[in-house]
Amino acid sequence: MLGHLLERNVQWADQKNADEPGYFARLATHQSPEFFWIGCSDSRVPANVVAGLDPGEVFVHRNVANIIHSADMNMLSALEFAVETLKIREIIVCGHFGCGGVKAATEDLPHGLADHWLEPIRRLARSYAVDLAQENGEEARRDKLAELNAIEGVRRVAETPILQHAWRTGVNIRVHGLIYGLKDGRLRDLDCTVGPGHFNEEAAQ
Ligand code: CO
Repeated sequence: MLGHLLERNVQWADQKNADEPGYFARLATHQSPEFFWIGCSDSRVPANVVAGLDPGEVFVHRNVANIIHSADMNMLSALEFAVETLKIREIIVCGHFGCGGVKAATEDLPHGLADHWLEPIRRLARSYAVDLAQENGEEARRDKLAELNAIEGVRRVAETPILQHAWRTGVNIRVHGLIYGLKDGRLRDLDCTVGPGHFNEEAAQ
């Protein structure tokens, strides 16, 4: 199996070099991606592929069910590097329909460590129980919860000291929420974008 993977890698690298001579030598010198993508680990939602982007165009952090835990050193390190070193100004939190992590969070079964990881989704499901009850069927309820989880992720990224500091010092970064449909391959904007001044506006209300 691994041998097959390595063979495919050789084919891919050779083809890439044949199509664009010097491709790897160019890419090896630096990266300047425009987007930072926070998505689910699900093998069917690879950031580059679904967004139609080449290597070098998107910086990526993925975890089970694209959850933003505010003390997750892995996510925070990637976020800090994205904002402060790579100077990325467009951050995307992308959830997806049919998410196994969201499903696990809605089940009354023990999943071991994953139950700790998925706790924020259970909390969301409790907070939005009335709205979720209006959805027609279990699948629709879970998909709605996946949307709410991505929207919550946008808020949580916006609340990090990294984004707060960036906005305070006049950096124009925006954080977007998207949802991906496994059944149609389409990304949808959840219209929950936040940018500079977001929290000032909220405080003023
Ligand atoms: Co998922």
